[in-house]
Amino acid sequence: MLKSCGKKLLLSLVGSMLTCFLVLVVDQQKGQVLSLGGGGAGLLLQPFEGSRGDAAGLRTALPSGQSHNDVRSFSAYFSKLARGKAEAASAVGGGPEEGRAARPQLEDISPQDVFIAVKTTKKFHKSRLELLLDTWISRNKDMTFIFTDGEDEELKKRTGNVINTNCSAAHSRQALSCKMAVEYDKFIESGRKWFCHMDDDNYVNVRALIKLLSSYPHTQDIYIGKPSLDRPIQATERISENKMHPVHFWFATGGAGFCISRGLALKMSPWASGGHFMSTAEKIRLPDDCTIGYIIESVLGVKLIRSNLFHSHLENLHQVPKTEIHVQVTLSYGMFENKRNSIHIKGAFSVEEDPSRFRTVHCMLYPDTPWCPRNAVY
Ligand SMILES: *[C@@H]1O[C@H](CO)[C@@H](O)[C@H](O)[C@H]1NC(C)=O
Repeated sequence: MLKSCGKKLLLSLVGSMLTCFLVLVVDQQKGQVLSLGGGGAGLLLQPFEGSRGDAAGLRTALPSGQSHNDVRSFSAYFSKLARGKAEAASAVGGGPEEGRAARPQLEDISPQDVFIAVKTTKKFHKSRLELLLDTWISRNKDMTFIFTDGEDEELKKRTGNVINTNCSAAHSRQALSCKMAVEYDKFIESGRKWFCHMDDDNYVNVRALIKLLSSYPHTQDIYIGKPSLDRPIQATERISENKMHPVHFWFATGGAGFCISRGLALKMSPWASGGHFMSTAEKIRLPDDCTIGYIIESVLGVKLIRSNLFHSHLENLHQVPKTEIHVQVTLSYGMFENKRNSIHIKGAFSVEEDPSRFRTVHCMLYPDTPWCPRNAVY
């Protein structure tokens, strides 16, 4: 159904930018709805009527002044998305933006007030989690909860809070939503003030995180993170068996990490607790992080607070200024546009020794760590 060149392009773009899978949903009324998504971004692209199954003519939520006709193909769409990314830092619209200047402290938050959920899968316990356990988690074991899908006695020996979600290990929309649902329930149970979701390729600078959260009231409605797109996502809400309804909302990309205050999390309960999160995700047929945005922005009418202190591997991490690394809340590493992507920092270890740069960052932030070289220059 996609022309082979478009298909190839799509596959490489999905591979590098979006991450994982492609779901095809058939809307009885309007023809086909293509939903791209994964652990990170998710989009719902709707072909125009009369172009059923053709890659040309996608409809997305474009900023005003841009015609839908501007977007003619996947290639055009994705180059727009890439261009948008460059402008995203100064993007208009959406919720309030967290300013460059530090906000004053409002609450006294201690690490025990924050619940950091790290989503992983058994396959990555060695290759990804070890790095986190050696670095930022080692200093923050009480606040970090690891959500996985398989038993691992070795892992349990290294850190206390390992939760086997019993969700499928597949990287499917359902499996990811299943994990998010367990994260949410465990957070509510914990009684803590803040819920922060992270992926297993995130470095969390806990001091910067606490500082950020301390400047917001946890009893009010706070949803903070980095939007992965430069415009709201357009999704289709399933109201009944054959009734669909378009909705627009912003969401914080799960790959960069995001936080939700307890006040807001409690309000999300009818759509998020118990089995409800999965049925909500099914209703809009989007990945876990989009579903969080849908519940908060679309259902509850609370705006995402946009922060540039959160970073995912879906952005060019070379652009994080070296002098500001210590104030960033999250970092990441991986692949972006088919190139290795990591922050630029010199110091304790070479790129070969430390390709993610997480160990180097950790030594810069905590030079008293036993395995850090004593005289590194950053
Ligand atoms: C997963 O299954 C085990 C064994 O049945 C159970 O003890 C555990 O509580 C389950 N985990 C969750 C999050 O429900």
